[in-house]
Amino acid sequence: MNINGKHFRTIWLHEEDPKIVRIINQQALPFTFEIIDLKNLEDMRRAIKDMYLRGAGLIGAAAAYGMYLASLEAEENSFDDDMQKAAVILKNTRPTASNLAWAVDIMRSKIPGKATLAQKQEAAKNAAMEIADGDAEYCRMIGIHGLALIEKIAKKKKNETVNILTHCNAGALAFVDYGSALSPVYAAFDRGIKVHVWVDETRPRNQGASLTAWELGRHGVPHKLIPDNAGGHLMQHGMVDMVITGADRVTRRGDAANKIGTYLKALAAKENGVPFYVALPSSTFDFTMKDGVKEIPIEERDASEVRFISGKTPDGYISTVQICPDETEAANWGFDVTPARYITALITERGICNAAEKSITKLFGA
Ligand code: MRU
Repeated sequence: MNINGKHFRTIWLHEEDPKIVRIINQQALPFTFEIIDLKNLEDMRRAIKDMYLRGAGLIGAAAAYGMYLASLEAEENSFDDDMQKAAVILKNTRPTASNLAWAVDIMRSKIPGKATLAQKQEAAKNAAMEIADGDAEYCRMIGIHGLALIEKIAKKKKNETVNILTHCNAGALAFVDYGSALSPVYAAFDRGIKVHVWVDETRPRNQGASLTAWELGRHGVPHKLIPDNAGGHLMQHGMVDMVITGADRVTRRGDAANKIGTYLKALAAKENGVPFYVALPSSTFDFTMKDGVKEIPIEERDASEVRFISGKTPDGYISTVQICPDETEAANWGFDVTPARYITALITERGICNAAEKSITKLFGA
């Protein structure tokens, strides 16, 4: 990710002390760019749970590094039990994104049963780094495959600007690098294709306003922030050429869980003949599930995220204010599921496929 001319990933090992994991603090964005150090399993648990970092791919990489930090705290004679406990702690942080459990399970399989403590810790470190590198590479490939779709629309529009709508943040900040939904956008922009992104603000936590707008701005991609409810209107008036969103879990028949509100965008897109793409790395598939609406666990978050809103005051302070009557209760489901029939295609690191079991199986052999 390009931040004012410097390349950053969202998570990495401390340059001088590889026993510390560093992350970009997403709670401080867009007003402050801050790096924080995580020194143990509890630091990582809190970072994931309280969303100092977030996004499916990044949650997966963070869980992998969390297992590495846990290996540094584990006792030689109770190593397996300690790691099993760490796996449960990390898996309980956030339920919807598949990448988390996927990464924890890989970490467990990569740590040898018979080895010294130091060898196990070294294996955990290498496995976490491999998962992080893999995530970045998957996303780079998603960019290459998705670029072809944007190029096709640009050609059809005789090189006029391609307007892309996205929901939440499925950019570099949601992964280790590049992003899923935004990776094709960056690839197109870097090739000189004229693109413009409609950024849904994404209530209640406003990941679109605070994160997507921020990272598109750092990369120089033209974009405009819109209220969550504006997408349907824009589609009715021919102002959206395509929708690209990310996903937190996709079933084997192509139903996709993504940030709450995505489903409504898919309905509007279908009604208006606008192609609706979901971009995801293979680590986001859950081949054990078929019917996403019935089976995908949907995270319920604290009502305070709906009842309060944070932002910068005119005098530059960050402040939180209440937006409803004192006695009003709120409900806060974090995700919804878009059934496969509303998805034009899936953009993955292996290429583009229909959101359908046959097509997914052909590409991934699962
Ligand atoms: O709650 P978050 O911010 O972790 O939600 C995940 C997301 O960022 C979105 O649902 C995103 O579009 C998919 S994750 C790449």
